[in-house]
Amino acid sequence: MEQSQIFLQHIIDNSWPQVVAEIDRKIVGWCDIIPKTTIGFTHVGHLGMGVRQGYRGKGIGRRLLVDCLSLARMAGIERVELEVFSDNAAAIYLYERHGFTLEGRKTHARKLEGKYQDVQLMALSLSGNDGATLRSSGMAQKYDGS
Ligand SMILES: CC(C)(COP(=O)(O)OP(=O)(O)OC[C@H]1O[C@@H](n2cnc3c(N)ncnc32)[C@H](O)[C@@H]1OP(=O)(O)O)[C@@H](O)C(=O)NCCC(=O)NCCS
Repeated sequence: MEQSQIFLQHIIDNSWPQVVAEIDRKIVGWCDIIPKTTIGFTHVGHLGMGVRQGYRGKGIGRRLLVDCLSLARMAGIERVELEVFSDNAAAIYLYERHGFTLEGRKTHARKLEGKYQDVQLMALSLSGNDGATLRSSGMAQKYDGS
């Protein structure tokens, strides 16, 4: 818990793109795009997201993704990368629907209780988009579930 708080504070301090979904004062979903810090890679952000069970399939993930990608454009991020388990049909569908393409696959990347899972590497280019004309401050946004 403490580690998550430190991570969250780091995102806020750096104004990195992050969106959360709140319903009845409860955080039910989140999406963030963390820029890389290595020289030569700072134009790239890594995307992570999740929606709590019981709130999935209601359009929350789609809205979180769309809003967070907008923030990433405003922040000047040119390329968004992610890793997703290849059996995660819901997430892959969502990412493909929003323009992410498959760039690679790690075979047998995870082994849990003798069962292997592959990981897909996906990416989306944001360069050439009209995000540069948008507002460039106040990165953190909250989605109220409506
Ligand atoms: C992936 C995840 C974030 C999607 O969030 P969500 O709120 O359920 O997604 P939405 O309700 O916005 O649905 C997005 C799209 O996926 C489709 N979808 C939902 N569940 C699906 C499924 N099981 N299989 C295929 N498509 C599915 C929806 O129909 C919708 O399509 P549309 O935009 O054409 O209408 C959510 O399932 C989740 O948190 N999963 C566990 C954590 C995870 O996998 N995180 C990503 C790791 S990389």
